[in-house]
Amino acid sequence: MRRGSIAQLVGIGIVCGGVAALVAIFVPWLPDPASRQAGRIDFVFWFVTVICIAIFALVAAVIIYALVKFRAAPGEDMDGPPIHGHTGLEIVWTAIPAALVTAISIVSAIVLAKNDHIPHASAAANAEPLKPLVVKVIAQQFAWSFQYPAFGNLTSATLELPLEKTVELRITSLDVTHSFWVPEFGQKQDAVPGSVNNLAITPDKVGHYPVICTELCGLGHAVMRSRADVLPAQQFLSWAKGQQKKLGGPAGASGKAVFANNGCNSCHTFRPAGATAKVGPDLDNLKQEAQRAGQPLQQFIHQSIVDPNAYIEPGYPKNVMPTTFSSLPKAQLDSLVAFLAGQAK
Ligand code: CUA
Repeated sequence: MRRGSIAQLVGIGIVCGGVAALVAIFVPWLPDPASRQAGRIDFVFWFVTVICIAIFALVAAVIIYALVKFRAAPGEDMDGPPIHGHTGLEIVWTAIPAALVTAISIVSAIVLAKNDHIPHASAAANAEPLKPLVVKVIAQQFAWSFQYPAFGNLTSATLELPLEKTVELRITSLDVTHSFWVPEFGQKQDAVPGSVNNLAITPDKVGHYPVICTELCGLGHAVMRSRADVLPAQQFLSWAKGQQKKLGGPAGASGKAVFANNGCNSCHTFRPAGATAKVGPDLDNLKQEAQRAGQPLQQFIHQSIVDPNAYIEPGYPKNVMPTTFSSLPKAQLDSLVAFLAGQAK
């Protein structure tokens, strides 16, 4: 091959590779990573993408060069010269891809192993509640709730996380299979009834991120969303302690917090709590609903929370409201009932 032809080949390759690189860099294929695990996944993504761009540039350059250079002249219908195998070329195009695929699998295996690693709680961890912080993630049609065993099983409807601390999520479901996903954290994990799946997350960027259900789980799948808030560690601790205080406070005073922390607002409308969802009955009409059920207001509210199928408001299906709220601590249940009854119009 003459030097001029090689220069042409290289030139075409650089142009094709450049175009592919622009597409890779300027199209936001992945969200900005907000956890160390997502950062590693990003590294694998770029490692593979750079290899792909190089191979693409090489193949595109050879194809375009051959198309132009060896094009049949108008009217020429002869066969090309016969070609036999080329052992040297065949060794090269087998060995190079084999080496690249091996490299990709090694890098991926290292990242997978690191991302799956959950540091075990040492004896000293008891003194430091954030090391590692365990959060129970509970999925149900169609809401998420997050429990913090280190803070007296504090329950929250949003996932609050401390910055730069590895958190062990223990994910389960109360009904059907859901899947936990925060795009910025880079990983998905199924929420399966009857079993617990773990996921380690080390948030490394303060901010608010969507929590999304990424497994078709019923009519409300698309709205089964919550929010993950990454806070500086100190701020996280004061949030957790503040919530603990609110939920343990005198009856009535904390009902609004119980309402929000248990995700009531993801299904119901209730103006005093700023809730506007329309999956379940409108709680602004609790008095009329209690009348229809033929029960005193307080008793009706209590029953509807702990045994939701006992009375079903006309127009709403059975078995949609979770039956799990019967396990709410008594003080929280009482303040929730008092809050709903006290604010009902
Ligand atoms: Cu839960 Cu989709």
